[in-house]
Order: sequence, then C-alpha cells, then structure tokens
Amino acid sequence: MKREMTETYVPVVMVRRDLQELPIRSLPARYSLRWYTPGDATHWVDIQSRADALNRISAVLFDAQFAERGELPKRQAFILDESGRPAGSATAWFGDCRGTKMGRVHWVAVLPEHQGRGLGSALMSVVCSRLRDLGHAAAYLTTDERRTMALGLYVRFGFVRV
Ligand SMILES: CC(C)(COP(=O)(O)OP(=O)(O)OC[C@H]1O[C@@H](n2cnc3c(N)ncnc32)[C@H](O)[C@@H]1OP(=O)(O)O)[C@@H](O)C(=O)NCCC(=O)NCCS
Repeated sequence: MKREMTETYVPVVMVRRDLQELPIRSLPARYSLRWYTPGDATHWVDIQSRADALNRISAVLFDAQFAERGELPKRQAFILDESGRPAGSATAWFGDCRGTKMGRVHWVAVLPEHQGRGLGSALMSVVCSRLRDLGHAAAYLTTDERRTMALGLYVRFGFVRV
C-alpha cells in the first residue's frame, strides 16, 4: 500500500523488543567500517546535512545529541567509501522509551550518492549487533512518517511501531 506523504513532522516511535536473531547484512564490496575517533563530528555533520532534508544539522546539534562523548568510540559507526571518505553513519545509542531504558538506533544516514547500495542495511546490522553486545536487551528509535525509505528499513530489521 502506498503511504501518503505528509507536509509536517509526524513522529513515529518503533521498538525491537529483543536483540536476538538480528538480520545480518554485510557491507557491500569496496566499503569499510570504522568506529568514531575524535574529529568525526565534522564527518557526521556533513553526512547528516547532505542526507537529511528534514532537520537542520549543525555541530551544536551533534554536541547536544551525543553529550556523553566518551561513549562514541564504541557506539558511533561510519562506513567509508573506497577512497576512505565517510559515506554513512549510524549510532548505537541509548535512552528512555516511554519510561524504559533501552538501546537506541540513532541518526542513521547515508550520503545520497551512496544510497540504494545496501549501506543503510549494513549500518542497521552493525548498530543493532553493537547494542546487543553492549548489553541492551531491546532497542527503540524515533523517526518521521515522511521517511518512507527509513521506515521500510526499520520494519525489515524487526522494529514495530508503538
Ligand atoms: C534511510 C537510509 C539511511 C537508507 O540508506 P540506504 O543506504 O539507501 O539503504 P539500503 O541501500 O540498505 O536500502 C534499504 C532498503 O531501501 C530500498 N531502497 C533504497 N534506496 C531505494 C530507492 N532509491 N528506491 C527504492 N528502494 C530503495 C532498498 O531496496 C532496501 O530494501 P531491501 O532491504 O528490501 O533490499 C537513507 O535513505 C537515508 O540516509 N535517508 C535520509 C536520512 C534519513 O531519513 N535517515 C533516517 C532517519 S530516522
């Protein structure tokens, strides 16, 4: 069924009630993955601002979203293209979903010129596995009704709307 596009922000919250039997999606050939190192805030801002037409992205937003900076090296993933340039990112974060502390799939984005090649799926695979490995029993995410590509991806990774 075709989803109607909406003009304004319509929040969607999705939960994966366990992190067992996660889909495994490998990185496509010629891409590699690494975790956050100092200085990556610039890469994150670049990826998000070019991929995401709905939010205003800035270094201030990065600082606000990832205040617990010491967590980033084990939680924020970057996919690099064959030249070593960051092409996508997602973060295995944490938070409070309606009163329950759980892992959080946060800020998934792939540069437009790299989309449709499986990078988003690989990021979801890596980030969900990392949340499980860090001891989270469940995960949630927040998104927007207008993000049809992301909504389909999340459903395929077992997230359901709450
Ligand atoms: C959502 C997003 C991360 C997906 O990244 P991606 O690298 O394109 O994802 P994939 O290539 O792994 O594709 C995921 C699915 O979408 C489908 N898809 C991707 N691009 C497509 C396109 N242009 N047309 C049709 N289907 C497409 C793929 O077929 C795949 O489906 P499958 O799992 O059944 O094979 C990317 O579209 C993006 O960065 N969007 C903007 C930022 C955003 O909205 N982020 C989410 C915030 S909550």
